[in-house]
Amino acid sequence: MPIKPKSIVVRDLKVSYLDNGIEAENSLIFIHGFPFAKEMWKQQLEALDRSVHGIAYDIRGFGASDAGHGFFSIELFASDLLYFIEELKLKNVILCGLSMGGYIALRAFERSPERFSGLILCDTNAFADKNESRLNRFAVIEKIQQGGKIEFAENNLRQLLCEETFAEAPAVTAFVREMIENTSERTICAAQLAMASRTDTTAVLKEIQVPVLIVRGEHDRLMPIEQAELLKSEIKYSTLAEIPQSGHLPNLEKPEAFNAQLNDFLKKFV
Ligand code: MLT
Repeated sequence: MPIKPKSIVVRDLKVSYLDNGIEAENSLIFIHGFPFAKEMWKQQLEALDRSVHGIAYDIRGFGASDAGHGFFSIELFASDLLYFIEELKLKNVILCGLSMGGYIALRAFERSPERFSGLILCDTNAFADKNESRLNRFAVIEKIQQGGKIEFAENNLRQLLCEETFAEAPAVTAFVREMIENTSERTICAAQLAMASRTDTTAVLKEIQVPVLIVRGEHDRLMPIEQAELLKSEIKYSTLAEIPQSGHLPNLEKPEAFNAQLNDFLKKFV
């Protein structure tokens, strides 16, 4: 089945998404990180087992989705996701969120656990920001407002990708740079405020009773191993997979290793 771009209006907002068109009992929704778009999950949609309906959507303001009023919060992104699931009448939903996508997945799960049959948490954590991170985000907003988006993209790339990806995978680097550069200044700034003000979701971890796969790129500079290990120790039915020679974006930096973990985990649902 070819991966098709689609869109749907959910509560006055156009949501753009990719759909693998497979009719199946289980649906898997991919949630991108910051500041990316749904296309970052294309290789996963293509590699998905035929028993899973796969969707990757653009969070409001990112990619081709509408921004709406522009006052973003992780809470709002989680509400959007819950309405999107309702609108598409999806049952047995598994969420796969990377970094900011993981913050959204955990908050959506906290609000509506009965909707979800599994979680995949990639290079993410359950904490609210500490003051230092908040101050860094406010500094990013200032930089962007002074016309520094290109510099932001360059600095961000060096944090996101591991050295090997940088040296040996120019197409991956170019793809990630393009996603960052295609994200509007308004969205970058509003999403920074959203992440700075997000709630802590560590309390929900012990309540999660569905299977969870935690994935982390071995050389992720943004999410330390201790954070992934905390997710592992708090979530009862979880496994932790480290993707070797990858930074913060293992699904792009090492897609084969990532997809193998993904499809192995999905066997639990068939
Ligand atoms: C992401 O990849 O989504 C970001 O690194 C998350 C963050 O800035 O906390």
